[in-house]
Amino acid sequence: MVDLLERDQELRTLHAVLRDAAHAHGSVVLVTGEPGIGKSALVDRFGAEVAGRARFLRGFCDDLATPRPLGAFRDFAEELPQPLADTLRQPSVPAAFPSVLLEHLRSGDVPSVLVLEDVHWADQATVDAVVVLGRRIADMPAVLLLTYRPGEVDPGQPLRAAIAAVRGTTSAHLELAPLSSAAVAQLAGPDAERVFALSAGNPFFVTELIAGRGDPPPPSLADAVLGRVAQLEDASRQLLELVSMVPGRVATEVLDVAEPGWSLAAEQPERRQLLTSDPRHVRFRHALTQAAVRSSVPPARRRTLHGTILHALHEVRADPADLVHHAEAAGAADVVAEQSLIAARQARAAESHREAFAHFRRASDFADRLPRKTGHGSGKSWRAAPTWWAGPVRRSPRSPVPSACARSRAIGRRWSAT
Ligand SMILES: Nc1ncnc2c1ncn2[C@@H]1O[C@H](COP(=O)(O)OP(=O)(O)OP(=O)(O)O)[C@@H](O)[C@H]1O
Ligand SMILES: [Mg+2]
Repeated sequence: MVDLLERDQELRTLHAVLRDAAHAHGSVVLVTGEPGIGKSALVDRFGAEVAGRARFLRGFCDDLATPRPLGAFRDFAEELPQPLADTLRQPSVPAAFPSVLLEHLRSGDVPSVLVLEDVHWADQATVDAVVVLGRRIADMPAVLLLTYRPGEVDPGQPLRAAIAAVRGTTSAHLELAPLSSAAVAQLAGPDAERVFALSAGNPFFVTELIAGRGDPPPPSLADAVLGRVAQLEDASRQLLELVSMVPGRVATEVLDVAEPGWSLAAEQPERRQLLTSDPRHVRFRHALTQAAVRSSVPPARRRTLHGTILHALHEVRADPADLVHHAEAAGAADVVAEQSLIAARQARAAESHREAFAHFRRASDFADRLPRKTGHGSGKSWRAAPTWWAGPVRRSPRSPVPSACARSRAIGRRWSAT
């Protein structure tokens, strides 16, 4: 079993709830959080710690198009007395099953922990059983522990009403937080900074990154992410693909132009905790999710999407550095040539010599596409500038920055003179 970091408080709460149950003060506990946050790992650890002191019954709901009725209960049928197990094996389980199960939980020398995992996928019969068990648990030597991803409980889904119905007997709601940077450092060692930046502390992402190393997301991680994306409606999936092309975050004003009506398409990915937004920006919650979605988009479509973003960036008069990024990916060489020079000039003015160098060098690659006249100077000397500037640096690629500073200043003087 993995070392569980930063879950001491939650484990203490679970043990306290079980102690109460041992005195016939039973309750419901909710363990919630996004995929991979560590709900099952917490349950694993709690189960191991109470072994011998409690009867631990655990079942899982599955992400099936049509879920098995009472599927989670069937998972632990073997551990129930014969008549109850036989009842669960029948094709149609009698409606009285939850009450019979309750009577069984009341018996025995030790309290019971009944875990239903991933109830966001529960079938209706399981949801009904949650209500029956949850409402009657207060004087029972039992804990009903439910895990779920809140983002996947859609409005109107019966589970919401069931959770509300058992509020009176719910003793704890453990909303699991991501791991801190210190915990990630403990797991990832020298690679900690990169792992934390990509994972935002999600333990599943952290463990996969450590196992995978390297730049593209490990296949297991990409599969997990793309499996979730595949369940979205077409418009939502297309929006994710578009947003995945923009490094960091995309301005809502850009989306307004690129994909009018995008906010409707963003609802589902936001609820499922794939995207997050504020009034001005939309971004992926995890850089790794973004990387997985981006790498799933075929190259020709990627180019089209970059073209769409480029057009929107033009419309909103975005920063030239952003324009250059998308123009290059969209194959819009003219725009790269023109905007690289503008970006270079801005970077130089801000004393960002490394960036100025990179933009000048890019502009020099497209020098023959530069316009004859621009607002930044004119004619031959202007067009020759980036080539002249980048040439010597190319010959000493290992130390571009010091020479970039000097050259950036020199070219700045030259430009001011034109
Ligand atoms: N607190 C933690 N410290 C270290 N590793 C953890 C921690 N929590 C979870 N992990 C690891 O992260 C991975 C994902 O955890 P887990 O499967 O419990 O997530 P989950 O919330 O149950 O996800 P899902 O919603 O997909 O079921 C596992 O490999 C687990 O061992
Ligand atoms: Mg789980």
